Amino acid sequence: MALLTGKAVAITGAASGIGRAIALEMARHGASVCINYYPDEPSAAAAAALGAQIAAERGPGVFASVAGDISTPEAGQALVAAAVAHFGKLDVFVSNAGICPFAEFTTMPADTYRRTVAVNLDGAFFATQAAARQMQAQGTGGSIIGVSSISALVGGGLQTHYTPTKAGVLSLMQSCAVALGQHGIRCNALLPGTIRTGLNEADLVGAKGAAMAARVPLGRLGEPADLAGPAVFLASDLSCYVTGAQVLVDGGLFVNLQ
Ligand SMILES: NC(=O)c1ccc[n+]([C@@H]2O[C@H](COP(=O)([O-])OP(=O)(O)OC[C@H]3O[C@@H](n4cnc5c(N)ncnc54)[C@H](O)[C@@H]3O)[C@@H](O)[C@H]2O)c1
Repeated sequence: MALLTGKAVAITGAASGIGRAIALEMARHGASVCINYYPDEPSAAAAAALGAQIAAERGPGVFASVAGDISTPEAGQALVAAAVAHFGKLDVFVSNAGICPFAEFTTMPADTYRRTVAVNLDGAFFATQAAARQMQAQGTGGSIIGVSSISALVGGGLQTHYTPTKAGVLSLMQSCAVALGQHGIRCNALLPGTIRTGLNEADLVGAKGAAMAARVPLGRLGEPADLAGPAVFLASDLSCYVTGAQVLVDGGLFVNLQ
């Protein structure tokens, strides 16, 4: 069953990992998808490959992409403008782009902290703001999904710069749910557990990866595609009375940390 037929979607940082999986699954559910990708050659090539795959499955005209450093307000605005230029509207926005450069707290350079906050939190704020402005102007409601993390709820010794940004994305979605509910715009947070992507795969090899997987009640680490179904649900009208929610997609890891 196609759950997103006729919907126009914009996703940040979707050339790889979780964002890519969400883009692909939403396209498979009938959506038109516009992605933002980081302005470098590998990301441009990955975005083009995703576009080719979606075109092969769905035909032409349902995919668009735009480069931009999402830490700037202009990149979020450009993504929303591209979605509207290609598809005439915006129904669903996913704030996904993020970085997680593991670092010791006491020796962390200020630039590492500032860059992480700029991409993960400033980027989420400004792009969500651009999406909300568009949805509000359209007057037909919408769904906004912020990719947070279970790190929003638990500490991480090498993530003292990262976990506050993910708690920030969760809080942003909660406050936006309150601010935008009157416009029929729903805002929810997805909280992935440990998902094998370019963000962390170097840290998940060998015995360490096996030990991480052993802590997951469902018995394995997550894959990007594990986030796609929950994202489609939150984007679709099946979740029409769900807003301000935190949806953990972690194989049960969080409750096993209690
Ligand atoms: N992998 C995990 O275990 C995990 C767990 C919890 C939350 N998350 C979150 O999921 C989201 C996606 O991460 P992922 O795991 O798929 O990793 P990933 O590295 O595959 O994806 C992140 C994407 O964001 C893009 N990006 C980075 N900086 C950007 C910028 N300034 N402008 C535009 N794009 C930028 C990257 O190019 C990349 O395509 C992140 O927000 C991350 O915090 C991941």
